[in-house]
Amino acid sequence: MDEHTARCAVVGFGPGLGAAIARRFAAGGYQVLGLARDPARHAALAAPGVTLSAADAGVPESLARALAGGADVLVYNAYRATIAMPGPSALDPADLARDFAVNVTGALAALRAVLPGMRAAGRGTILLTGGGLALNPLNWLPAASLAVGKAGLRSLALTLHAELAPEGIHAATVTVDGPVAPGTAFDPDRVAEAFWALHGDPPGAFRAETIFRG
Ligand SMILES: NC(=O)c1ccc[n+]([C@@H]2O[C@H](COP(=O)([O-])OP(=O)(O)OC[C@H]3O[C@@H](n4cnc5c(N)ncnc54)[C@H](OP(=O)(O)O)[C@@H]3O)[C@@H](O)[C@H]2O)c1
Repeated sequence: MDEHTARCAVVGFGPGLGAAIARRFAAGGYQVLGLARDPARHAALAAPGVTLSAADAGVPESLARALAGGADVLVYNAYRATIAMPGPSALDPADLARDFAVNVTGALAALRAVLPGMRAAGRGTILLTGGGLALNPLNWLPAASLAVGKAGLRSLALTLHAELAPEGIHAATVTVDGPVAPGTAFDPDRVAEAFWALHGDPPGAFRAETIFRG
């Protein structure tokens, strides 16, 4: 890291993975900005080096405003899941669209907000939080909307990776293939290490994905 304190933005700050990723990057020397719709609700989670602010990941203009200061590392962790019983035929198309706006479109809006700064610097890291439903949509039929979103997010991550790696910008996804829960193999702090490790890949050896299986 050089003179300026490196900045990490975590879009979708919450008690599980969001806070753990924020803590991990703060411990690594980053000044972390955590974004949530209702940051006051998460104030008790703001560790040293982490400040919270408001943004709605379903509204591109809101993300652009919140990320106007740029970031050296962007983590997109927000998600929205409509549960439709017993499966996708019961899903209201409007809910699919609302979920997709947070699960995928918001990731694109967020990265487009920070990309000019990363391009000017010739470096940066963009990490998208994926889910196992991207790989196995049949695992939970009522969550078909989230499965569509996570498949879309994974596709976005892999294509971004191919586009941006030659510019020295590392885009990647951590596909979390199991339920995040403290004290388990999917403890949020353990999953957060996978984000930190991907971020540590040197130029020329960027990985596109870590599938976290505990
Ligand atoms: N939990 C699991 O078992 C699991 C498994 C596989 C993958 N994942 C993935 O891991 C990520 C984190 O999941 P988590 O359960 O650990 O959640 P978390 O990080 O504890 O919390 C996520 C936070 O995102 C914020 N958020 C939701 N919608 C938002 C929006 N429209 N704009 C801005 N912020 C928004 C929420 O805060 P506000 O309500 O204040 O906005 C919420 O607290 C997600 O991408 C999820 O799909 C989770």
